[in-house]
Amino acid sequence: MRQKIVAGNWKMNKTLEEANILASEVTGMVADEVKGDAKVIFCVPFPYLLPIKNQLGNNARISVGAQNCSEHESGAYTGEVSAPMLKSMGIPYVILGHSERRQYFGEDGKLLAKKVDVALKHGLSPIFCCGEPLEVREANGHEALVKKQVEESLFHLDADALKKVVIAYEPVWAIGTGKTASAQQAQDMHAVIRKHLASKYGQAVADTIIILYGGSVNAANAKELFSCPDVDGGLVGGASLKSRDFTEVIKGA
Ligand code: PGA
Repeated sequence: MRQKIVAGNWKMNKTLEEANILASEVTGMVADEVKGDAKVIFCVPFPYLLPIKNQLGNNARISVGAQNCSEHESGAYTGEVSAPMLKSMGIPYVILGHSERRQYFGEDGKLLAKKVDVALKHGLSPIFCCGEPLEVREANGHEALVKKQVEESLFHLDADALKKVVIAYEPVWAIGTGKTASAQQAQDMHAVIRKHLASKYGQAVADTIIILYGGSVNAANAKELFSCPDVDGGLVGGASLKSRDFTEVIKGA
């Protein structure tokens, strides 16, 4: 059985005070209401990593993740944050290749392969995002594109390294739009990704890889999406910013 994960991607939202309140409300609700053993990750803006991590203490169910890191390990890269820095703060996860990074910051498959490598080298688990824009889906190119994204940034890894990666399939047309992929569309793409991993690493390895769905996951659709055999939880944006909504999403896992 693969571990279920529900990761909240806070993106560039919340003041420090609001962030502390959100984390503490979700932590309380999860402790009081959520059964099952889904793992929860708060992927918070860099400045909030330590305060939120300290607030969580040694919470066994909830941990923190960053939303990006540099491909470089150190040096004259003003404004950047490195994987060794995250590691030194005890941060276990880092989102890499989110479609907003690809779209607004020009991140491509090659660069992301470097980021994946540097994250893994320093003991972080990448949450690697892939997913097609609307025009690619409409032209029926989604399977080919997502397979290429996975290949470009992950296929150079050996099996042991790959097992530390969490994949998030996030169709770009579903992110922040309120237009969720249907459970069938999500399941189909997750199965395509898993099959592609199996073609390179074998079925046994592919079966261990956690693949999250992201794109307008909310309290109403989480359970159905997370019940699909190849969907191992979610990467959640908007609905992770409200404690009640996020808790309901977690309950779906
Ligand atoms: P959304 O964002 O849930 O607001 O669609 C998901 C994401 O970008 O990770």
